[in-house]
Amino acid sequence: MNLYLEGKKVIITGGTKGIGRACVLQFCAEGAEVSFCSRSQQSVEALEAEIRALGGKAHGKAVDLYDKDAYLLWLKQAAEEMRGVDIFVSNVTGGTALGMDAWGAWKEFFDVDLMCAVDGFETLHPYLSESKFPAVTFVSSTAAIEYFPPSPPGFMALKSALITHAKTLAHHHGKTGIRVNTVSPGPVYVNGGAWEFVENEMSELYQSTLSQIPLGRMGTPDEVGSLIAYLSSPLASFITGSNLVIDGGLRKGL
Ligand SMILES: NC(=O)c1ccc[n+]([C@@H]2O[C@H](COP(=O)([O-])OP(=O)(O)OC[C@H]3O[C@@H](n4cnc5c(N)ncnc54)[C@H](OP(=O)(O)O)[C@@H]3O)[C@@H](O)[C@H]2O)c1
Repeated sequence: MNLYLEGKKVIITGGTKGIGRACVLQFCAEGAEVSFCSRSQQSVEALEAEIRALGGKAHGKAVDLYDKDAYLLWLKQAAEEMRGVDIFVSNVTGGTALGMDAWGAWKEFFDVDLMCAVDGFETLHPYLSESKFPAVTFVSSTAAIEYFPPSPPGFMALKSALITHAKTLAHHHGKTGIRVNTVSPGPVYVNGGAWEFVENEMSELYQSTLSQIPLGRMGTPDEVGSLIAYLSSPLASFITGSNLVIDGGLRKGL
Protein backbone atom coordinates (compact mmCIF):
# COMPACT_ATOMS: atom_id res chain seq x y z
CA MET A 1 0.00 0.00 0.00
CA ASN A 2 1.33 3.45 -0.90
CA LEU A 3 1.16 5.64 2.21
CA TYR A 4 1.98 8.78 0.20
CA LEU A 5 4.79 9.66 2.59
CA GLU A 6 7.39 10.27 -0.13
CA GLY A 7 9.20 13.57 0.48
CA LYS A 8 7.42 14.17 3.78
CA LYS A 9 9.63 15.68 6.49
CA VAL A 10 9.48 13.81 9.78
CA ILE A 11 10.87 14.42 13.28
CA ILE A 12 10.95 11.51 15.74
CA THR A 13 12.27 11.65 19.30
CA GLY A 14 14.27 8.62 20.41
CA GLY A 15 14.84 6.83 17.10
CA THR A 16 17.67 4.38 17.64
CA LYS A 17 15.92 1.56 19.48
CA GLY A 18 12.54 -0.08 19.82
CA ILE A 19 9.42 1.67 18.54
CA GLY A 20 11.26 4.87 17.56
CA ARG A 21 13.78 2.97 15.44
CA ALA A 22 10.96 1.04 13.76
CA CYS A 23 9.29 4.39 12.94
CA VAL A 24 12.51 5.85 11.51
CA LEU A 25 13.01 2.80 9.27
CA GLN A 26 9.35 2.70 8.15
CA PHE A 27 9.25 6.40 7.25
CA CYS A 28 12.56 6.15 5.39
CA ALA A 29 11.38 3.06 3.52
CA GLU A 30 8.34 5.09 2.41
CA GLY A 31 10.63 7.78 0.98
CA ALA A 32 10.26 10.33 3.79
CA GLU A 33 13.15 12.43 5.11
CA VAL A 34 13.62 11.81 8.84
CA SER A 35 15.34 13.59 11.72
CA PHE A 36 15.74 11.54 14.88
CA CYS A 37 17.68 11.65 18.15
CA SER A 38 19.00 9.57 21.02
CA ARG A 39 21.50 10.21 23.81
CA SER A 40 24.21 8.14 22.13
CA GLN A 41 26.27 9.64 19.30
CA GLN A 42 27.48 6.18 18.37
CA SER A 43 24.00 4.69 17.92
CA VAL A 44 22.83 7.80 16.04
CA GLU A 45 25.72 7.47 13.58
CA ALA A 46 25.16 3.71 13.22
CA LEU A 47 21.50 4.20 12.27
CA GLU A 48 22.33 7.06 9.89
CA ALA A 49 24.81 4.76 8.12
CA GLU A 50 22.28 1.90 8.01
CA ILE A 51 19.67 4.15 6.39
CA ARG A 52 22.16 5.62 3.95
CA ALA A 53 23.08 2.08 2.86
CA LEU A 54 19.38 1.41 2.25
CA GLY A 55 19.14 4.53 0.08
CA GLY A 56 17.14 6.51 2.64
CA LYS A 57 17.56 10.05 3.94
CA ALA A 58 17.91 10.55 7.71
CA HIS A 59 19.63 12.99 10.03
CA GLY A 60 20.50 11.87 13.56
CA LYS A 61 21.58 13.98 16.52
CA ALA A 62 22.78 13.07 20.01
CA VAL A 63 20.42 15.02 22.29
CA ASP A 64 19.25 14.30 25.83
CA LEU A 65 15.60 15.29 26.21
CA TYR A 66 16.21 16.13 29.88
CA ASP A 67 18.13 19.12 28.58
CA LYS A 68 15.13 21.21 27.48
CA ASP A 69 17.14 23.93 25.74
CA ALA A 70 19.16 21.40 23.74
CA TYR A 71 15.96 19.54 22.83
CA LEU A 72 14.15 22.62 21.54
CA LEU A 73 17.25 23.81 19.69
CA TRP A 74 17.53 20.42 17.97
CA LEU A 75 13.87 20.56 16.90
CA LYS A 76 14.36 24.00 15.34
CA GLN A 77 17.64 23.02 13.66
CA ALA A 78 16.12 19.80 12.30
CA ALA A 79 13.12 21.71 10.93
CA GLU A 80 15.39 24.30 9.29
CA GLU A 81 17.75 21.66 7.88
CA MET A 82 14.84 19.79 6.26
CA ARG A 83 13.15 23.09 5.27
CA GLY A 84 9.92 22.18 7.00
CA VAL A 85 8.11 19.58 9.08
CA ASP A 86 5.04 17.57 8.10
CA ILE A 87 5.10 14.91 10.81
CA PHE A 88 6.14 14.90 14.47
CA VAL A 89 6.31 11.73 16.58
CA SER A 90 6.95 12.26 20.31
CA ASN A 91 8.18 8.84 21.38
CA VAL A 92 10.69 9.05 24.25
CA THR A 93 9.71 8.03 27.77
CA GLY A 94 11.35 9.36 30.90
CA GLY A 95 11.95 6.21 32.88
CA THR A 96 11.76 2.47 32.75
CA ALA A 97 12.24 1.35 36.35
CA LEU A 98 9.33 -0.97 37.08
CA GLY A 99 7.31 -0.21 40.19
CA MET A 100 9.10 3.11 40.71
CA ASP A 101 6.76 5.51 42.54
CA ALA A 102 9.18 8.04 44.03
CA TRP A 103 8.72 11.77 43.36
CA GLY A 104 11.77 11.71 41.08
CA ALA A 105 10.09 9.20 38.79
CA TRP A 106 6.95 11.35 38.56
CA LYS A 107 9.13 14.30 37.57
CA GLU A 108 10.93 12.27 34.90
CA PHE A 109 7.66 11.19 33.30
CA PHE A 110 6.32 14.75 33.57
CA ASP A 111 9.42 16.33 32.03
CA VAL A 112 9.90 13.85 29.21
CA ASP A 113 6.70 11.94 28.35
CA LEU A 114 4.39 14.92 28.78
CA MET A 115 6.34 18.17 28.47
CA CYS A 116 8.60 17.10 25.59
CA ALA A 117 5.39 16.41 23.65
CA VAL A 118 3.79 19.70 24.75
CA ASP A 119 6.87 21.83 24.03
CA GLY A 120 7.69 19.86 20.88
CA PHE A 121 4.29 20.66 19.42
CA GLU A 122 4.55 24.37 20.30
CA THR A 123 8.05 24.63 18.83
CA LEU A 124 7.12 22.85 15.61
CA HIS A 125 3.69 24.47 15.21
CA PRO A 126 4.93 27.22 12.82
CA TYR A 127 6.39 24.53 10.54
CA LEU A 128 3.39 22.19 10.81
CA SER A 129 1.13 25.12 9.91
CA GLU A 130 2.93 25.40 6.58
CA SER A 131 2.48 21.69 5.74
CA LYS A 132 -0.23 20.37 3.41
CA PHE A 133 -0.66 17.17 5.47
CA PRO A 134 0.50 17.88 9.03
CA ALA A 135 0.23 15.02 11.52
CA VAL A 136 1.40 14.64 15.10
CA THR A 137 1.49 11.42 17.12
CA PHE A 138 2.28 11.08 20.82
CA VAL A 139 3.27 7.60 21.96
CA SER A 140 1.28 6.74 25.08
CA SER A 141 0.54 3.28 26.53
CA THR A 142 -2.35 0.97 27.41
CA ALA A 143 -1.23 1.63 31.00
CA ALA A 144 -2.79 5.08 30.49
CA ILE A 145 -6.26 3.67 29.97
CA GLU A 146 -6.31 0.43 31.95
CA TYR A 147 -4.83 -0.24 35.39
CA PHE A 148 -1.55 -2.06 34.78
CA PRO A 149 0.34 -2.54 38.05
CA PRO A 150 3.76 -3.37 36.58
CA SER A 151 3.92 0.24 35.36
CA PRO A 152 5.02 3.02 37.74
CA PRO A 153 2.09 5.22 38.94
CA GLY A 154 3.65 8.34 37.42
CA PHE A 155 3.95 6.60 34.06
CA MET A 156 0.25 5.68 34.03
CA ALA A 157 -0.86 9.17 35.12
CA LEU A 158 1.35 11.16 32.74
CA LYS A 159 0.66 8.89 29.74
CA SER A 160 -3.06 9.56 30.43
CA ALA A 161 -2.36 13.29 30.43
CA LEU A 162 -0.68 12.86 27.06
CA ILE A 163 -3.89 11.39 25.58
CA THR A 164 -5.93 14.25 27.04
CA HIS A 165 -3.53 16.84 25.64
CA ALA A 166 -3.55 15.28 22.16
CA LYS A 167 -7.36 15.51 22.20
CA THR A 168 -7.15 19.18 23.22
CA LEU A 169 -4.65 19.98 20.46
CA ALA A 170 -6.78 18.11 17.91
CA HIS A 171 -9.72 20.37 18.80
CA HIS A 172 -7.69 23.59 18.92
CA HIS A 173 -5.92 22.99 15.60
CA GLY A 174 -8.35 20.83 13.61
CA LYS A 175 -9.64 23.75 11.52
CA THR A 176 -6.08 24.43 10.33
CA GLY A 177 -5.69 20.79 9.22
CA ILE A 178 -3.21 19.70 11.88
CA ARG A 179 -4.13 16.21 13.07
CA VAL A 180 -3.05 15.10 16.55
CA ASN A 181 -3.43 11.54 17.84
CA THR A 182 -1.97 9.15 20.37
CA VAL A 183 -0.94 5.55 19.86
CA SER A 184 -1.16 3.32 22.92
CA PRO A 185 0.87 0.15 22.71
CA GLY A 186 0.49 -2.76 25.09
CA PRO A 187 3.65 -4.71 25.98
CA VAL A 188 6.13 -4.53 23.10
CA TYR A 189 9.18 -6.79 23.21
CA VAL A 190 12.33 -4.86 22.33
CA ASN A 191 15.65 -6.74 22.24
CA GLY A 192 17.65 -5.40 25.18
CA GLY A 193 14.56 -3.54 26.44
CA ALA A 194 12.44 -3.58 29.59
CA TRP A 195 10.45 -6.73 28.77
CA GLU A 196 13.61 -8.71 28.03
CA PHE A 197 14.81 -7.70 31.49
CA VAL A 198 11.49 -8.81 33.00
CA GLU A 199 11.65 -12.09 31.07
CA ASN A 200 15.10 -12.84 32.50
CA GLU A 201 14.78 -11.41 36.01
CA MET A 202 11.04 -11.57 36.85
CA SER A 203 9.76 -14.56 34.92
CA GLU A 204 6.52 -14.86 36.93
CA LEU A 205 5.51 -11.31 36.01
CA TYR A 206 6.52 -11.92 32.39
CA GLN A 207 4.42 -15.11 32.13
CA SER A 208 1.42 -13.54 33.88
CA THR A 209 1.56 -10.56 31.48
CA LEU A 210 1.74 -12.89 28.46
CA SER A 211 -1.23 -14.86 29.79
CA GLN A 212 -3.36 -11.68 29.79
CA ILE A 213 -2.76 -10.98 26.08
CA PRO A 214 -5.41 -12.72 23.94
CA LEU A 215 -2.96 -13.10 21.03
CA GLY A 216 -0.58 -14.87 23.43
CA ARG A 217 2.50 -12.78 22.65
CA MET A 218 3.93 -9.31 23.01
CA GLY A 219 3.91 -6.84 20.14
CA THR A 220 6.90 -6.01 17.97
CA PRO A 221 8.32 -2.51 17.38
CA ASP A 222 7.58 -2.93 13.66
CA GLU A 223 3.88 -3.49 14.34
CA VAL A 224 3.70 -0.20 16.25
CA GLY A 225 5.92 1.60 13.70
CA SER A 226 3.56 0.55 10.88
CA LEU A 227 0.57 1.93 12.75
CA ILE A 228 2.33 5.25 13.41
CA ALA A 229 3.41 5.51 9.75
CA TYR A 230 -0.18 4.89 8.60
CA LEU A 231 -1.65 7.29 11.16
CA SER A 232 0.82 10.00 10.06
CA SER A 233 0.02 9.51 6.40
CA PRO A 234 -2.55 11.26 4.20
CA LEU A 235 -4.45 7.94 4.13
CA ALA A 236 -5.50 8.63 7.74
CA SER A 237 -6.68 12.15 6.88
CA PHE A 238 -9.97 11.88 8.83
CA ILE A 239 -8.41 10.56 12.06
CA THR A 240 -7.67 13.16 14.70
CA GLY A 241 -8.16 13.34 18.47
CA SER A 242 -8.05 9.55 18.58
CA ASN A 243 -6.14 7.14 20.76
CA LEU A 244 -5.29 4.05 18.74
CA VAL A 245 -4.68 0.99 20.92
CA ILE A 246 -2.30 -1.70 19.68
CA ASP A 247 -2.04 -4.38 22.35
CA GLY A 248 -2.95 -7.84 21.05
CA GLY A 249 -6.30 -7.47 22.81
CA LEU A 250 -4.85 -6.88 26.32
CA ARG A 251 -7.25 -4.05 27.19
CA LYS A 252 -10.45 -5.47 28.66
CA GLY A 253 -12.64 -2.34 28.52
CA LEU A 254 -15.55 -2.45 26.06
N1 LIG B 1 8.08 -1.27 24.91
C1 LIG B 1 6.87 -1.33 25.47
O1 LIG B 1 6.43 -2.38 25.98
C2 LIG B 1 5.99 -0.12 25.49
C3 LIG B 1 4.65 -0.28 25.87
C4 LIG B 1 3.83 0.85 25.91
C5 LIG B 1 4.32 2.09 25.58
N2 LIG B 1 5.62 2.22 25.22
C6 LIG B 1 6.11 3.56 24.88
O2 LIG B 1 6.74 3.55 23.62
C7 LIG B 1 7.78 4.53 23.60
C8 LIG B 1 9.07 3.90 23.13
O3 LIG B 1 9.36 2.82 23.99
P1 LIG B 1 10.46 1.71 23.58
O4 LIG B 1 10.16 0.51 24.40
O5 LIG B 1 10.54 1.60 22.11
O6 LIG B 1 11.79 2.40 24.16
P2 LIG B 1 13.33 1.99 24.00
O7 LIG B 1 13.44 0.70 23.29
O8 LIG B 1 13.92 2.14 25.35
O9 LIG B 1 13.89 3.15 23.04
C9 LIG B 1 13.88 4.45 23.46
C10 LIG B 1 14.60 5.32 22.45
O10 LIG B 1 14.64 6.66 22.97
C11 LIG B 1 16.00 7.06 23.21
N3 LIG B 1 16.00 7.84 24.46
C12 LIG B 1 15.68 7.39 25.69
N4 LIG B 1 15.79 8.40 26.59
C13 LIG B 1 16.18 9.50 25.89
C14 LIG B 1 16.47 10.83 26.26
N5 LIG B 1 16.40 11.24 27.54
N6 LIG B 1 16.84 11.70 25.31
C15 LIG B 1 16.94 11.30 24.02
N7 LIG B 1 16.68 10.04 23.60
C16 LIG B 1 16.31 9.15 24.53
C17 LIG B 1 16.78 5.77 23.26
O11 LIG B 1 18.14 5.93 22.89
P3 LIG B 1 19.28 6.17 24.01
O12 LIG B 1 19.00 5.22 25.14
O13 LIG B 1 20.56 5.87 23.29
O14 LIG B 1 19.17 7.59 24.42
C18 LIG B 1 16.04 4.93 22.23
O15 LIG B 1 16.44 5.30 20.94
C19 LIG B 1 7.83 5.13 25.01
O16 LIG B 1 7.09 6.31 25.07
C20 LIG B 1 7.17 4.05 25.85
O17 LIG B 1 6.57 4.54 27.04
C21 LIG B 1 6.47 1.16 25.16
